[in-house]
Amino acid sequence: MSAAVKPKRRTPSQIQAMKGRTPIVCLTAYTTPIARLLDEHCDLLLVGDSLGMVLYGMDSTIPVTLDMMIAHGKAVMRGVSTSCVVVDMPFGTYQESRETAFRNAARVLQETGCDAVKLEGGREMAETIAFMVERGIPVLGHVGLMPQQVHVTGGYRSVGHSDAETERIKADAKAIGTSGAFGLVVEGTVETVAREVTAALPVPTIGIGASPACDGQILVSDDMLGLFNDFTPRFVKRYEELGQRVTSAAAAYADDVRARKFPADAHTFKRRRS
Ligand code: KIV
Repeated sequence: MSAAVKPKRRTPSQIQAMKGRTPIVCLTAYTTPIARLLDEHCDLLLVGDSLGMVLYGMDSTIPVTLDMMIAHGKAVMRGVSTSCVVVDMPFGTYQESRETAFRNAARVLQETGCDAVKLEGGREMAETIAFMVERGIPVLGHVGLMPQQVHVTGGYRSVGHSDAETERIKADAKAIGTSGAFGLVVEGTVETVAREVTAALPVPTIGIGASPACDGQILVSDDMLGLFNDFTPRFVKRYEELGQRVTSAAAAYADDVRARKFPADAHTFKRRRS
């Protein structure tokens, strides 16, 4: 009797090797059921610290903790068969020293079983990333708009509109792209910068609000599914209107309960004849 062959997840090295070949398809996932639904369509699933805002209603990603990321990383891993799973390092868990970054990232890898971690930062994080990668932790970088810097930058505006900003992003991307990271997320920047950075780096760029010039694309799944009925950022394409569908379903359920139409006979247990 042959044991069932378990499908293998894509590795960070395989994601890196996709540069210049096929576009890399990435989405965020925070829970088991959503991971199950997205897995077969994606190359990489990111357990993003955006979960603080998307799932927990926080004002920013700053209050997200390592324990939260580990809990959601474990949940996503239960739903994934083939996608490479990357878990975000939250604010305050990697900036202080390369040793702290290694220790916290090792915890994420050991406790979730994920494939890699992601951390935000430019030139100032390159040495830390090299330290982590040399010691066995695959890292995805994140440059451009960096949501964990919101208290310093003062908001979530796109970057790369001035010469100084363009030079900064290019220098950051070069430092991270040659640090040992297997790829980098490029967030919220103009097309010319994304194109230059993508052409210059040996590793893939994964864009969010960073034009089609990147090697891959990522969106927050809840944005792409239209789970919010209010604000949609310009760079998001809504492929569904799940927010409206949830509202209509809840209204129909409420009407049925109030009219005593639910539960009907089909939903009601009857005593079996013995
Ligand atoms: O936290 C997150 O979801 C992210 C993506 C937006 C890239 O970092």
